[in-house]
This record gives sequence, structure tokens and C-alpha cells, in this order.
Amino acid sequence: MSFKRTLVTSALPYANGPVHIGHLAGVYVPADIYVRYLRLRGQEVLFVGGSDEHGVPVTIRARKEGITTQQVVDRYHTLIKDSFERFGISFDVYSRTSGAIHHQFASDYFRKLYDTGKFVEQTTEQFFDPETNEFLTDRNIRGECPRCHAQGAYGGQCEKCGATLSPDELINPYNAINGNPLQKKATSHWYLPLDQYQSWLENWILENHKEWRSNVYGQCKSWLDSGLKPRAVTRDLNWGIPVPVEGAEGKVLYVWFDAPIGYISNTKELCDAQPDKYGQWETWWKDPETRLIHFIGKDNIVFHCIVFPSMLKAEGSYILPDNVPSNEFLNLEGDKISTSRNWAVWLNEYLDDFPGKQDVLRYVLTANAPETKDNDFTWADFQARNNNELVAIYGNFVNRALVLTQKYFEGKVPQAGELTDYDRETIAEFRNVKEELEKLLDNFRFRDAQKEAMNLARIGNKYLADMEPWKLIKTDAARTATVLNLSLQIAANLSIAFEPFLPFSSAKLRDMLGMKQVDWNRLGHLDLLPAEHTLGQVGLLFEKIEDAAIQGQLDRLARIKAENEAKAKEEELRNCKPAEIKASTSIEEFDKMDIRVATVLNCQPVKKSERLLQFTLDDGMSGRTILSGIAQSYPDPSVLIGKQVLFIANFPPRKMMGIESQGMILSAVNADGKLVVTTVSAPVKNGCQVG
Ligand code: MF3
Ligand code: ZN
Repeated sequence: MSFKRTLVTSALPYANGPVHIGHLAGVYVPADIYVRYLRLRGQEVLFVGGSDEHGVPVTIRARKEGITTQQVVDRYHTLIKDSFERFGISFDVYSRTSGAIHHQFASDYFRKLYDTGKFVEQTTEQFFDPETNEFLTDRNIRGECPRCHAQGAYGGQCEKCGATLSPDELINPYNAINGNPLQKKATSHWYLPLDQYQSWLENWILENHKEWRSNVYGQCKSWLDSGLKPRAVTRDLNWGIPVPVEGAEGKVLYVWFDAPIGYISNTKELCDAQPDKYGQWETWWKDPETRLIHFIGKDNIVFHCIVFPSMLKAEGSYILPDNVPSNEFLNLEGDKISTSRNWAVWLNEYLDDFPGKQDVLRYVLTANAPETKDNDFTWADFQARNNNELVAIYGNFVNRALVLTQKYFEGKVPQAGELTDYDRETIAEFRNVKEELEKLLDNFRFRDAQKEAMNLARIGNKYLADMEPWKLIKTDAARTATVLNLSLQIAANLSIAFEPFLPFSSAKLRDMLGMKQVDWNRLGHLDLLPAEHTLGQVGLLFEKIEDAAIQGQLDRLARIKAENEAKAKEEELRNCKPAEIKASTSIEEFDKMDIRVATVLNCQPVKKSERLLQFTLDDGMSGRTILSGIAQSYPDPSVLIGKQVLFIANFPPRKMMGIESQGMILSAVNADGKLVVTTVSAPVKNGCQVG
């Protein structure tokens, strides 16, 4: 089908934290490459983004930081918007869903579907905290995992055994925030009956969009194959857009209902403000000659391919997405990126640590883009790609071509003479570049496209290395002129080919070449710079990244890992329930135990034993030796010397590892299995009894 214009959206990030490399790699860099490319081709395109400011994640963050939810979204919206700007993500509009325009628009949208009977109302029993008087969302419900019996599993998933759980399956569910036990209470909500859209979706996706990426198509198919069910589009929550229906007090639109509508309301906000420049918002959303493309991460597929299209279809006057190029996930040094665990490279911090190196990150994230499978970001790879590719190939080539021209030809493009076969072969490599790049970019294959651009730099670099103009100049000035002319033409081509990927470096390179504009259509031609054209100031396009900078990043991650492990341990201890009380006993039984106080005179590991510590005690009598199997819990047993401990004095002596143990030291068994020796809270005369 033919189209006149392209509307590109990128998932609205939750304003519950800064954006990180996973966001950039998964969504924003590919979307930006794509729109820059379309603009270069002179197509009409609109790039819409914004912050997703509703939903539970922002409210959790507010509680954690002790500020209001509005303060949270204000802070992160500003930070996120700024990060995107600094990375050159070239949105036409970047707005937010807590704004009045969006609230009104989403509310009206809901109301229209409500009025035309597109929802079904259902009453269900949901978990309720009677003390705070609120219903709980899945992720705020915790309890014991029914599979592995770990404490503190979330309604959604058990982090211990990985089981997917519904909150109903949790044993003794409680409020994750305050620990209150939960009750079930009836509540009514509006549902979008996705089952009614099933056959339409099957036809639209499975038949008519076989060209979608296989990960996207596959996920849709599996959703459709298991049969769609009605989905609630409202929630019991006090943060969000109020449900515009009488009697729905305390209910808001579900975040996944209002957020994608944000794409539309943000478009409207832009067009209404500048109609002369951007036209009518309806043209972008309702004209069948507009092509709609959603850039998202894989956890968003069902919402963009099934739920949102059903919402659009239900309304009836909107176009549907033409393609939804979703990426898989990017991991960081082998672990899943996580905002809550601080396991990420935050964009704002990256820019502080590597000022001016936006393009390096853009390059690495595209080179490693998780287009078909999850991928890993490592700092070692980041450094290698910068030093071995950007610096050693692209930067080195450009620098040599420019510097030699300055040196031999006073900074003016020398006139080319007759071409050799090798020159012609080199030129031939450029013949199809434009078509190749277009084919890849049109198919959202950004990783391969960037590789293709880099390949041009490789060709240029090899050409210079083979021709050795720095030697040639001594014998053949005319030939040197040809070689440098051709090299400068290649450099000019690089500035065009890399423009969608590395916009900052392309602009810098054009400055150095004294090149006024980029004309995509001239890509592949080797006459971009006329002879005698004066070059600009020569500088370095890329700089080597030293080991120390990389080590700094690795140290930071190691610190975070250690912090997380400590936190997990703490949490585990907190969530551990004490063992059951033993069968009852009696004073008489207890009185049989002769428990006494002694001071530890010496404490040392028993040779050849991993378990045993040897205590020498002042027991107020003739002294005694006791062996205790607690060595694992006391890597430095000398910390116990001088402590007053409790021991059982009337156990029969027992020989272990050739040493006689005369009793037993009392230790508490901590939740993590570590043993902690008991002591007295004030000094007691050694040998006194405990009872
Ligand atoms: N905030 C969601 C996320 O980060 C994405 C919302 S995309 C939109 O996963 F379509 F809802 F806008
Ligand atoms: Zn479990």
C-alpha cells in the first residue's frame, strides 16, 4: 500500500526513574535512526514521545523517596526529557501523561467507548487492605510461594523459584508496603472484551502482517492461540485519570489504557500549537495514507499489537499500526537491567562520565542491538568498539585524509587525475551503498545497516593504507592528489551514511570537510566535494577510551552488586519465619541441664577441621576445653576472646579430632543458618548457673 507520511511513536517510559542504556538500545536509538533516515529521504514524518506518568511504579517510587507522586513524575520527566535531548533523540514532541491535555483526551476517549457500549462491566473479588481502605495491585501483594514456600513472593512472580503466580495463589497474602493481612472485597470494573476482537486480530496480524519481526509475530500468535479474555481498563487507585462515569469515585483508568492514548494526545498537543508546521492531528491518526510505526521493547508487544489496536478499532475512526518493530532485551554485564536494583548505566550518569561521547554509546548500542535476541552490554566491548572501530578505522581514516590534505595541498581538495584500476574497484564498492542502506533501514535492520556504513570506512581506511600517500608524495604529486581526492570523497560519503546513526559525529565531520549540507540522494557518488573546495578545521572525530575509565565503571558495578547482595540477605532474614515451637517440656526436664557462665580465654580453629573451634574457658573452677562446630560462622574466632558465654557443664566428655570436649557452648541459629554465640548482658562471676 502506498503512504504519504509516517507517524513514528516510541514507548512512553515510566517516569519512575532515569532512563538507561536498555531504553536507548531497545527503543529510542532505533526509532531515532529511523526518523532521521526518513527525514533525510525527504519524507513527511512525525516522531512522538513522552513520559508515562501514571501506574503503580511511580507511586512506589514516591513512597520509597518520601515525596509526592507528582514530585516524582516532575523530577523524572524533566531528567528523561533532558537525557533524550542530549543523546540527540530527535522527537518532534515529548510531552507527558499527567498534563491536562492528555487527561481530557484520554477521559473523552474512554467516555466515547463507554457511551457506545464497547465495555463490559464486571464485579470481582479483589484483595483489600481494611486498615488503609484500599485495593491492592498485583505487585503490592506478597505472600508465601505455593511452589517453593519462599516467603515474600510477589503477586505476579516468585523471585526465588521463578514461578508465575496470580495473587490468589499466594499463601497468607499481605500488603507489601505495610505488612497488613489482606481480605477479599467485591469491586466493579470496566473491561475491554478482547475475546470479541479475537478473530479480527487473527486476520489482521496472522494473515495480513506476516512481515512483522518473528519475535513480534510469534508473541502475538501465542497470545491469540491461547484465546483472548476481557481485560480490565480501570483500577482502584488514587493516582491516574479519574474514570469519567458517575459512581466511579476512587477508580482511575488503567495505565495501559491511558498511556498509548498519550501518543495521540501528544500529537494533538503539538499540532494544535503549531498547525502551520505540523498540520491537523487527525491527519496523522486518521488518514489511511499515514503509516503508523510503534517502536517498543518486548514487554510491550501485547499492548501495542493486541490491546491498543483493539482500542483503536473499538473507537472506529483511527488507523492501525503498520509495523511494530520490537526489540528484545539488553542485559548489562550478564545480568538483567533493573531500575529498582540500580543495575543499569543511567544516561545522565554516562554523560557526566563520558562528556561529548553520545555517539560512542549510540554506536555500541546499535552494533549490539538486541534485534533478534537478548544481548549483553559489557564495558570491555564498549571500549573495544570505540578504540578498534570508531577510532582505529573511521576516525583514523578521516583524520589521515584531512591532515594529509592540509599538509600537501593547503587544505584544499586536490584535483583528481586519471584513475587506476584499484581506484575504480574502490569506487565500485560505493555504487550500491544507498540502495543497500535503504533496504536494511526500510526493514528496521539497524544493526546491519550501521555495519554497512562502517564497512565504507573500512574500505576507505584500507585504500589509504594501500596507497600510502605519505610515501607517494615524494615521487608522484599528481597521483597523491588523486588518492587524497578520492579519500575525501569517501569521507564525505561517510558523513551522509552515518548521519542517521551518529548525528553528532556526522555534523563534526561535515564541519571539518567544510560541507554545507547532507544530500542522501548523493550517497554513493564520489564527486561530493569539488576540486579546490576549502576544508574546515581539522580535529579528532573520536578519541581513545583508556582502561582507567572502563575500570571506574566496572568498580561502580561491583559496588552495586555487593550492595544488592547485602540487601537481599537482609530481606531474606526479615522474611524468614521462626521455626515451629517444639513439643512442651517441663521445669524438671530443664533443671536437669547445668548451664553456666564462663569467660573465653582462648578460641582457635581445630587443625584439619573445617567445622570446629576449640574454646579454652575460665569456668570458675579448674577451667575446661570445649569444641564447638561453629567455625564457618566465625572466620576470625579471636573476636570471641574475652566474651562471657553460656555452656552446658554436665554433658559427658567427648573426643573429637583427638581433643576432649567437656560440654557444649550455646549458640543461636540465625535465619541464614549462621551460628551466633550467646553471651550475658552484664558481667557475671564465672561458674554461676543459668536458670
Ligand atoms: N511505560 C511503559 C513501559 O515502560 C510503556 C508505555 S508505552 C505506551 O513499559 F504505549 F503506553 F505509551
Ligand atoms: Zn517460589
